[in-house]
Amino acid sequence: MTTIGIGVIGMGWMGQVHSRGYNQIKDRFYDSGIRPRLVICADDVEHRARSSQDRFGFEQSTTHWREVIDHPEVQAVNITAPNGMHLEMVRAAAAAGKHVLCEKPVGRDPQQTIAAYEAARDAGVITGVGYNYRWAPLVQYARQLIESGELGTLTHYHGRFLNGYAGNPNGFLSWRFEAEHGLGTLGDLLSHAIDMAHMLVGPIGRLTASRETFIKQRPIPQPGVGTHYDVATGNEPKGDVTNEDYVSVIARFVNGVQGILEACRVINGAKCDMSFEVHGTKGALKWTMEEMNVLHYQRRNDATPAQDGYLRLLSGPAHPFHNRFNPAWGLNVGYDDLKVIEMYNFLDGIVTGQQGEPGLKAAYDVAQVENAIIRSWDSERWETVQY
Ligand SMILES: NC(=O)c1ccc[n+]([C@@H]2O[C@H](COP(=O)([O-])OP(=O)(O)OC[C@H]3O[C@@H](n4cnc5c(N)ncnc54)[C@H](O)[C@@H]3O)[C@@H](O)[C@H]2O)c1
Repeated sequence: MTTIGIGVIGMGWMGQVHSRGYNQIKDRFYDSGIRPRLVICADDVEHRARSSQDRFGFEQSTTHWREVIDHPEVQAVNITAPNGMHLEMVRAAAAAGKHVLCEKPVGRDPQQTIAAYEAARDAGVITGVGYNYRWAPLVQYARQLIESGELGTLTHYHGRFLNGYAGNPNGFLSWRFEAEHGLGTLGDLLSHAIDMAHMLVGPIGRLTASRETFIKQRPIPQPGVGTHYDVATGNEPKGDVTNEDYVSVIARFVNGVQGILEACRVINGAKCDMSFEVHGTKGALKWTMEEMNVLHYQRRNDATPAQDGYLRLLSGPAHPFHNRFNPAWGLNVGYDDLKVIEMYNFLDGIVTGQQGEPGLKAAYDVAQVENAIIRSWDSERWETVQY
């Protein structure tokens, strides 16, 4: 059995999901022998820090995040604070020799993501990043099908993250909508879609991109109250949205696959359409987070064309990680379960000393694609990604 002392910084939505995830490792991955110990949590809003200590069973709580990093019993630092604080926190954790899992997009902008990766790499610590959609059992199965050549030679890929979380114009002007705190949809949503494309197809080589901000002003929130899902009820004063609601990208992967990526945070219709379609010379796959327990799989059938079409596969114990949650076909896994798998893979890397995927290098690769997208917004031309 290996006990790993955990410190969590930022006890909003993700801090709570991650803490819940660590608490499930002993149960869901009992045989691994990994036993997370929730040592200390931090939030600058005192009632969040205190209630999280009680709710998740941390031994201590604090309003000063550096106490998490300095705590001698903390071996792994989990960063779920707003993006603009990630770099300073990753640097401090790495300098203290602590392993670090940071939520995407890792920093305010691609330069900060790159700096965070370099700090952790130079310190030689194990890292993790919150690209949780990778961990859906059917996404891992799709990866296996592609890697084993079941789709033949890949030809084209369509990845998107269309999410209406900010579609209400009365949704508060949280840090997510302010350029001083970071990118908008590019960092928040398209980062997931870029990582998924990299995992399934390989690195993006060249691209051209566009952007738009559809909702230009939002009500100003009270500090420490609510999350970005909360909506103003009165006549609160409004402030400007200073980053992008929408991004589209035409991409060429290094291996020649043609791609289209798209993300939007204010869209109607889609709720969480984090999805991909990938096509090859022998078949195709189609998946969306909105139906994460379903994978559409087509194998070209020239011998019997009447039977050539998408099959609908349901998630089950034959797919990676599904049986950690239940032993039955069609009994669904959920979003929070993906976080449990994410926590497990991070901790397993610490125990084995082997850096797993996705570490901060995956975030570095996404950041270099984001840099090329930003260059293309300005140049309105094709740009080359520099890894
Ligand atoms: N992987 C995913 O699916 C996913 C989903 C949502 C958010 N995220 C990422 O998670 C991170 C957090 O997002 P969230 O939705 O949980 O935001 P949130 O606003 O709900 O939580 C952030 C928390 O950090 C706290 N905080 C702010 N400054 C702090 C400081 N100096 N010290 C300690 N705590 C501080 C806030 O009080 C708040 O409780 C972001 O980087 C976001 O991009 C990832």
